[in-house]
Amino acid sequence: MGPDPVGKVATVTVIAIDGPAGSGKSTVARGVASRLGLAYLDTGAMYRSVAFAALRHAIDPADDDRVGAVARAIRLDMETDGSVHVDGFDATIEIRGPEVTRAVSVVAANPAVRAELRERQRRWVEQSGGGVLEGRDIGTVVFPDADLKVYLDARPEVRAARRSREVTDLSYETVAADLARRDALDQGRDDSPLSIPNDAVVVDTSELGIDEIVDRIVELADARQP
Ligand code: DC
Repeated sequence: MGPDPVGKVATVTVIAIDGPAGSGKSTVARGVASRLGLAYLDTGAMYRSVAFAALRHAIDPADDDRVGAVARAIRLDMETDGSVHVDGFDATIEIRGPEVTRAVSVVAANPAVRAELRERQRRWVEQSGGGVLEGRDIGTVVFPDADLKVYLDARPEVRAARRSREVTDLSYETVAADLARRDALDQGRDDSPLSIPNDAVVVDTSELGIDEIVDRIVELADARQP
């Protein structure tokens, strides 16, 4: 817990931000972390990194045993500037590419991968002295006692439009279909499916700007000051 840039003290140690792809999680979580002077972790990038490492070693993403072993063995460096190194290789671009995006849902459904990454996320919080974590199961499974839980959502067509602006080489229809497929896999898997934590603040970001959402979450965090 350190002072933020305007001198306030961040009293909320762990902030969990969950939600589906295109809900605005990453931008919002980064903004909240910077305003509160907390560290930020993109847990989706960790699942993507495992998928990337499996593909790089020509391992079938659906081979649970071998991909589980990959998750336990890889060195993962999540830098504060957003770059991601997997076993020393800068995979920042590749983990967002179509191959990894296609493979990541099956990797994220693998219980051995989830167990390993859950532990790494908890260790990261211990080492960072708290932080803002974004993902799918942070408030439900990884940190059920988080100080503040936020669930971001948006209408499917808004989420698809956001994603297709990021992925300029694919059509809106392709992006929308891929998003719907990933939603179904993330929500339907047995191990820690995407769901709204009981005590989460739910924000529909369809009509809201990033600054507005960040302001709202920072206010909520401040309001929880003892
Ligand atoms: O947020 P993203 O699109 O980068 O996430 C990539 C994949 O990882 C997505 O299929 C959901 C999964 N994921 C997960 O299962 N649990 C998390 N905590 C974060 C991401």
